[in-house]
Amino acid sequence: MIQTNFDLKPFNTFGISVKADRFATFSSIEELQTVLSEHQNEPLLILGGGSNLLLTKDFHGLVLKNELCGIRVITETEDDAIIESGAGETWHNFVMKCIELNLSGLENLSLIPGSVGASPMQNIGAYGVEIKDCFESLSAYHIESGEIHTFNKEACAFGYRESVFKHHFKGQYVICSVSFRLKKNAVVNTSYGAISSELEKLGIEQPSIRDVSNAVIAIRQSKLPDPKVIGNAGSFFKNPIVENAVYDAIKLNYPEVPFYPVDEHHGKLAAGWLIEKAGWKGKKIDTYGVHTLQALVLVNYGGSTGNQIYDLSSQIILDIESKFGVTLEREVNIL
Ligand code: FAD
Ligand code: EPU
Repeated sequence: MIQTNFDLKPFNTFGISVKADRFATFSSIEELQTVLSEHQNEPLLILGGGSNLLLTKDFHGLVLKNELCGIRVITETEDDAIIESGAGETWHNFVMKCIELNLSGLENLSLIPGSVGASPMQNIGAYGVEIKDCFESLSAYHIESGEIHTFNKEACAFGYRESVFKHHFKGQYVICSVSFRLKKNAVVNTSYGAISSELEKLGIEQPSIRDVSNAVIAIRQSKLPDPKVIGNAGSFFKNPIVENAVYDAIKLNYPEVPFYPVDEHHGKLAAGWLIEKAGWKGKKIDTYGVHTLQALVLVNYGGSTGNQIYDLSSQIILDIESKFGVTLEREVNIL
């Protein structure tokens, strides 16, 4: 059923109130086909959990919320299994299902909000793992032709918070299902400093995948705001990848600046560190601001507009440019 003049506030984790001309859900490819054929040439927004969106204005078109469900193991060998999930499943529930089945690979990505279908859009990542590390393939509905196309890892062109769906194929596909190749014999990744400290604190020396998941959940709950309590979309900016010379210049004044080498000539700076050093952490302007515990997260305490938050992000970008000579790029999709 199509609803009109529909308030999207409950459908985006920033909790921004804007109206969509039309809103519907789909839980099968046939439903998707039917609704698209009835609304051809209309601006379209495919919505998952709305956890990587900043809505700055009413949407004059059709918003379709993906509710394609179902999780199944497709094939298995002695060492691994390929597990497929409908795009509308909640990401965290899917990770929990994999852990229940004792399949390892996604446990470091516990508690990331949103849907399985959005996970390839920006190759979600956390605590030393990105989905590309165990991604197998996805199937996607090509809006123009109505065909279902399969993408393997190479075809997705994954990068740091990047994929082909954010650029070359932007707006052309609806991701319907995603498959991962997971290991039966757990290979845990505790390389991210915060995970090993958390496990040490709990006295766990040989962690299971559930232990790693629990450690990740504890770390995330300790510094990231829960969108049910404070509106946000996680990291608002990407961590900038810069030439080593940029790092050397910052290090002259700040020897402690975090830097993670990417290749011989480049490395990643921590945007949260730059924003905190520039004095923005915890800054509150009326009903919005920069989170008190994580400077990379912009927050809506209630009642803010998308434009207020967007303007704050622009001020931060200008300030970081002038103080450090580094240009921050937004991670969140602006609409
Ligand atoms: P939405 O916000 O609904 O959509 C995002 C984009 O994808 C939109 O352009 C939308 O049109 C498109 N899209 C969604 N589904 C489909 C589909 N099926 N087919 C085609 N296009 C689609 N991200 C990380 O990478 N790592 C983190 O650690 C992390 N932590 C977070 C913590 C918090 C508290 C929050 C609020 C967010 C965090 N995020 C993180 C960002 C966010 O959770 C991810 O980007 C997530 O994958 C977004 O999923 P979603 O379903 O909510 O996408
Ligand atoms: N830092 C500060 N001040 C801050 C925040 C961070 O100094 O306010 C410093 C930390 O002390 C640390 C470094 O920055 O030295 C990195 O911090 P952290 O480990 O918290 O990670 P992050 O770079 O802030 C990234 C991702 C997160 C992901 C975590 C864990 C990006 C843009 N963000 O955050 O992803 O969960 O690592 O892997 O890459 C998201 O994409 O929405 C997201 C939350």
